[in-house]
Amino acid sequence: MVETDQAAPPAGQLAAMDLTDAVQNHAFSDRVLIRSIVGRPDGGAGLAGQRVRAAGWVRTGREQGKGTFAFLELNDGSCPANLQVIVDAGVAVLSKLVATGTCVVVDGILKVPPEGTKQRIELRVEKVVHVGEVDPAKYPIPKTKLTLEFLRDHLHLRSRTNTIAAIARIRNALAFATHSFFQEHHFLYVHTPILTTSDCEGAGEMFQVTTLISEAEKLEKELIKNPPPSEADIEAARLLVSERGEAVKQLKAAKASKADITASVAELNKAKESLSKLEERSKLKPGIPQKDGKIDYTQDFFARQAFLTVSGQLQVETYACAVSNVYTFGPTFRAEHSHTSRHLAEFWMVEPEIAFADLQDDMNCAEAYVKYMCKWLLEKCLDDMEFMAKNYDKGCIDRLRMVASTPFVRISYTEAVELLEEAVRGGKKFENEVEWGIDLASEHERYLTEVKFQKPVIVYNYPKGIKAFYMRLNDDLKTVAAMDVLVPKVGELIGGSQREDRYDVIQERITEMGLPLEPYEWYLDLRRYGTVKHCGFGLGFERMILFATGIDNIRDVIPFPRYPGRADL
Ligand code: 4AD
Ligand code: MG
Repeated sequence: MVETDQAAPPAGQLAAMDLTDAVQNHAFSDRVLIRSIVGRPDGGAGLAGQRVRAAGWVRTGREQGKGTFAFLELNDGSCPANLQVIVDAGVAVLSKLVATGTCVVVDGILKVPPEGTKQRIELRVEKVVHVGEVDPAKYPIPKTKLTLEFLRDHLHLRSRTNTIAAIARIRNALAFATHSFFQEHHFLYVHTPILTTSDCEGAGEMFQVTTLISEAEKLEKELIKNPPPSEADIEAARLLVSERGEAVKQLKAAKASKADITASVAELNKAKESLSKLEERSKLKPGIPQKDGKIDYTQDFFARQAFLTVSGQLQVETYACAVSNVYTFGPTFRAEHSHTSRHLAEFWMVEPEIAFADLQDDMNCAEAYVKYMCKWLLEKCLDDMEFMAKNYDKGCIDRLRMVASTPFVRISYTEAVELLEEAVRGGKKFENEVEWGIDLASEHERYLTEVKFQKPVIVYNYPKGIKAFYMRLNDDLKTVAAMDVLVPKVGELIGGSQREDRYDVIQERITEMGLPLEPYEWYLDLRRYGTVKHCGFGLGFERMILFATGIDNIRDVIPFPRYPGRADL
């Protein structure tokens, strides 16, 4: 509940006042979001006189006036701006409030600060409701300017910095924009599996998922605690079974009472049971189960080899070939040993798949989607983008405007190689040699998009030898209907293609690439039955964030980065 100094207005005026002057508590918390105060067009000035409860973490705090009051810059993550809070010494022990990182909940009255200050509103505290203290001597992320590299060693606390919080809001906005774009165009959001048994890219960069190792370790420990029976133990158990068998026989021959025979049979069964248990245990061997000199995956969790997905494409195609327009958006995993600022072992990918559509449609969709995201950030995240422009990349806002409004360049791979060769002739030095047939290296991609065209470039029709088996073979039989979207700052942002929809051709391509047919049989069924022209692409979500924010390293735009040697938390 927000109290105001004024009496309640007549009902007729209420609606108008809600928009201009009344500040609302958060729907699920008894405090006001800081953005609903300082994020207003008037900077909060119109709220002067209102009593509110504010909460957040102290970004900076200082005692003033010989300890008679303190200034706190309070941030709750709802926007980049802080709320300035003033606490008098009579209200609380000031020294407990001022350390960076301290959590405070305060009740107070909003006031317009004296002329000459940059704030349009400040909160004069009447009561401190909660303090989560911080010992500044121990707090790992003090106020001093910290490098993003240093913050990577403190993943659990780095979200309290302005930069990481701004990136989190931009990331959130881009995710929302993604769903909004595809929903507006009637795409169905399909959840593809994270655990998979198919290698989409056929590049063998999959993380294996298995319980064989943990099961083997469990068994090893168990066998140490409780060693398997020796041959002698088993021999003794066998002897007991035959002795008890003999006893039963004798009782029967002696026509003993029914009760005696029954008891003796029970003893025999007990001995048999314990023998079979011992025999069973004696078969347990430490280590990973093997069969014919190979690991026996039939004993693994899924009774076959399984992996983390590198792409949801193959599975999402099954829905595209049934409900036409679909997309998947989820984590993907690649066990590449790339220590670059553009690669992660776990990253998020947005993968639309469109039926009754070809490579042109694919490029149109990719371009429209990227433009939509740029516009979205300019409209909904300008304060965070201004923060990025001020602190990381002066040109990032202009770049978003440029991309939102400029048609992307479209050139074939062959033309791209010609342009690169021309650059080499003009004196440009690349580390990787340029010739038709090479996979474009990041330096080539960045030359095209950053130097040659200075805008996004779509390169299409790549040599078939460097692309995945599922891409549609062009009539020249040398190239496939693939396309990559290259953008300044990042290089490859999107990879996509028209899919090979001809059964015979795709079957041959799989074989030609040395891949086994059996695991792809279900995929071939999509061509066997009711095949359709279709296409799709994958956008690396973190690369989009790099592109938008101008941050240099991909490890700083995902909350919990995973890369060779590191998987903290
Ligand atoms: O070009 P890629 O490998 O394409 C596919 O996986 C297709 N199955 C997509 C499809 O057609 N549905 O990956 C797509 C994008 C790349 O352009 C790049 O932006 C990003 O995913 N990407 C990575 N991002 C971060 N770390 C990595 N290791 C990445 N590998 C690819
Ligand atoms: Mg690619």
